[in-house]
Amino acid sequence: MTIALAPAGTKALPIHVLGTEDVALWAGQQSDRIRTWVEASTFKGNIGTALMIPDDAGHPAMALVGYGTPASRKRDRFTLAAALSKLAPGTYRIESGIDADHLEQESLGWLLASYSFNRYKDHPKEHPSLVTPEGVDADRVSIMAEAEFLTRDLINTPASDMGPAELESAARGLADKHKAKITVITGDALLKENFPMIHTVGRASDRAPRLIDMSWGNRGPKITLVGKGVCFDTGGLNLKPGSSMGLMKKDMGGAANVLGLAHMIMASGLEMRLRVLIPAVENSVSSNSFRPQDILTSRKGLTVEINNTDAEGRLVLADALALASEGEPNLIVSMATLTGAARVAVGPDLAPYYTDDDVAATSLDLAARRMADPVWRMPFHEPYEAMIEPGIADLDNAPKGGFAGSITAALFLRRFVNAQDRYIHFDIYGWQPSAAPGRPKGGALQGARALFAALPDMMDL
Ligand code: BES
Ligand code: MG
Ligand code: ZN
Repeated sequence: MTIALAPAGTKALPIHVLGTEDVALWAGQQSDRIRTWVEASTFKGNIGTALMIPDDAGHPAMALVGYGTPASRKRDRFTLAAALSKLAPGTYRIESGIDADHLEQESLGWLLASYSFNRYKDHPKEHPSLVTPEGVDADRVSIMAEAEFLTRDLINTPASDMGPAELESAARGLADKHKAKITVITGDALLKENFPMIHTVGRASDRAPRLIDMSWGNRGPKITLVGKGVCFDTGGLNLKPGSSMGLMKKDMGGAANVLGLAHMIMASGLEMRLRVLIPAVENSVSSNSFRPQDILTSRKGLTVEINNTDAEGRLVLADALALASEGEPNLIVSMATLTGAARVAVGPDLAPYYTDDDVAATSLDLAARRMADPVWRMPFHEPYEAMIEPGIADLDNAPKGGFAGSITAALFLRRFVNAQDRYIHFDIYGWQPSAAPGRPKGGALQGARALFAALPDMMDL
């Protein structure tokens, strides 16, 4: 399936996008026939509603799509996407009602609404097409939609078909597509190459742990993306209860998001040197599982006391972040479904992120708004550093007390990059719990599009 807008000039039915305030005025300017039809309908311009208008022969001639009110528009991201199922099959163009600033976002929402996860069952759906609106870069919108589809597919695939090896294959597939280089360190080789914590977390699974290392581009600033690739998180010996384990196929959501972001960077040819690091493991239960109170020595040399084997994400990320830092990039970004605390703090809709760089934060906040990919800055609150310091090792992977769980996890990760590194960490949920316009229930891209759009500004491209 191609995920694309129709070329400008394609024969299409016009759409008039009308807010609740605009319907009567618009109808008043039409022929008697159209005015009568609109007045006889229940169409009031509300979001999620549409009205087909026929020509004299009864064929669809145009469509009205509701644009609600400024207040109701703020309650979701994509307005046209909300009404797509109400349109007759066919190709449409936006004739009026959406200002230039929102055309890209609405076009993207249109494409995103066409997603379905078809790996195990076909979901045939007749989906209307949209002609590229004037001023919209059709390639850019396609690339963003492809990225999001990739991320969703990876997360939606259950752990039975998305273990460390399959995540590696997905990364290899993406690398092939963009002629990127890729190397993978697997199993006991992780010990030889000094990635002890990735090995320790993953060793209890008979699906070998690994570190995926992809790089692309030979000019421009260096950016390294690090994504949590825990393909299933049972919690390890600190086993999660069934209710908390139910969704843990999505614990590679950080990896899926950095791959989506990597696709956007490579497909649009941003002039930068990209590296993607994914520690891919399964956190399983076996006689060789790591245990509470084990003390691990990390790649960086810092020792970590394990107080909960379920706080595994920060361990595998720590070794990958240390490697990222060794490459002295201009920016390091980590993305991970790291803590339940993040979800409690901001819910599934906002992507919470941490950075010490106010310039990066400003670029990101602005881009997030433009891209309909909301983010929320959280603090690297130094007074909480003491919480991650236990008695007999440098660091504690799971501070007691349950305070500020997302912040303490972020502080833990920051210990593994160098102090001078420019670092952004996202603690995402990676999952859409119930369907919203353009966003079906399931795996979700979060923060990656905002990052993509912020990069030119952030990195002076
Ligand atoms: N993968 C989970 C975090 C998670 C849970 C993300 C639910 C999204 C939804 C992570 O590995 C984890 O289990 N974290 C623990 C850490 C705790 C033991 C310090 C958590 O957040 O409860
Ligand atoms: Mg866990
Ligand atoms: Zn996890």
